[in-house]
Amino acid sequence: MFGARCLLRALRSCSSAPCPRQRPAARVSVRGALGVQSANGERVKVQGWIRSVRSQKEVLFLHVNDGSSLESLQVVADSSFDSRELAFGSSVEVQGQLVKSPSKKQNVELKAEKIEVVGSCDAKAFPFKYKERHPLEYLRQYPHLRCRTNVLGSVLRVRSEATAAIHSFFKDSGFVHIHTPVITSNDCEGAGELFQVEPSSKIKVPEENFFNIPVFLTVSGQLHLEVMSGAFTQVFTFGPTFRAENSQSRRHLAEFYMVEAEISFLESLQDLMQVMESLFKTTAMTVLSNCPKDVELCHKFLAPGQKIRTYAKKQLSNWGADLHTEHEKYLVKHCGDIPVFVINYPLVLKPFYMRDNEDGPQHTVAAVDLLVPGVGELFGGSLREERYHLLEQRLARLGLTEAYQWYLDLRRFGSVPHGGFGMGFERYLQCILGIDNIKDVIPFPRFTHSCLL
Ligand code: 4AD
Ligand code: MG
Repeated sequence: MFGARCLLRALRSCSSAPCPRQRPAARVSVRGALGVQSANGERVKVQGWIRSVRSQKEVLFLHVNDGSSLESLQVVADSSFDSRELAFGSSVEVQGQLVKSPSKKQNVELKAEKIEVVGSCDAKAFPFKYKERHPLEYLRQYPHLRCRTNVLGSVLRVRSEATAAIHSFFKDSGFVHIHTPVITSNDCEGAGELFQVEPSSKIKVPEENFFNIPVFLTVSGQLHLEVMSGAFTQVFTFGPTFRAENSQSRRHLAEFYMVEAEISFLESLQDLMQVMESLFKTTAMTVLSNCPKDVELCHKFLAPGQKIRTYAKKQLSNWGADLHTEHEKYLVKHCGDIPVFVINYPLVLKPFYMRDNEDGPQHTVAAVDLLVPGVGELFGGSLREERYHLLEQRLARLGLTEAYQWYLDLRRFGSVPHGGFGMGFERYLQCILGIDNIKDVIPFPRFTHSCLL
């Protein structure tokens, strides 16, 4: 067996890079090149896609983008390089010298010595046109190409940055990351919005079900997180989640990403709301400071005037049926267009796992939703029923006792008060970027009647 030290030593000594005799031009990203403070003729190589071509009498200007930043790198070439193949959309490799740019528009530019067209692009057939700002609905028809536009580029870079910020938030707060399963036999939310999973061919497994029982794509990792919070105290998961909701609304997807946390020894909704608020605020600040230009592009072109503001906590005064989108909108507006926590929902409306408030005729559970402007429900969470007898009665009433014996076990063997929440990641992005339709903040949207690619 390799010891950890041995393994490290072996890894250090095996390098695939041969010692070069003559130093070739170093490959740099567009972001790296644009970040050079005092360019001094360094020889570099840049690879990317042409975003614009401007041909003058003696010089040719290209803008090359590789997705590492919103801005493109200006390449200045002698007109002898001009060719039909250097067109909007073509992929190129440019070698040359990085120099200070005489123009105020950029710090540096690349003086081309060699330009190679890696893949040409038929600009006439290419669905996006140079200098045109296409509507997002139009871009949606091209999920295989839309990531090359400025707006989708910005959204998806923010998505990547936000993912890292969320992981950092939990790591810094002492949470353990858990990979909860995608395939599961439980319907955590009890809403029946499940996709069943079976092999496409019956030949290999003649039994009725591949797993002997019906199984589904997960609607929430919560129950598995509850298992883990019984050992690690504070846990989170961040993965794909599936709901067979028959909806093509601007805030529903059949496949979306959910950030879920579960915390043991937590006794009040107040403490849970603090974690929710802190997750939202900390990660939004990180995203705003790490990719201000991408965020600005979305705000400028997609959501003029939208700003992130502070929170208000309001007790729901209207009583009765479940809240629909229109009610959520009304509440948020009523509170001054700011994020609003709604707490203590009627027990009959909520899943079996929520903690009974034992509060008389109204009979509520310790549930909390966070509603935000423009989106509606962003977070859903609750304290969990940790008391064995109350949970047992509730499961019995719903005819779920047998299926949830393992869940009852968690209350038999060292039960603790605990709670948690789930935040829809796409709705979070819609909220911080002010993007109206959820289909524009995920690379490949899946919803009723649509699964392109
Ligand atoms: O409110 P939900 O259904 O809560 C749960 O699933 C809990 N088990 C989570 C937990 O406590 N660990 O979903 C949580 C969030 C919603 O507030 C919403 O933001 C998002 O997930 N969401 C959706 N996002 C996009 N498309 C859908 N179809 C969504 N359904 C829920
Ligand atoms: Mg909910």
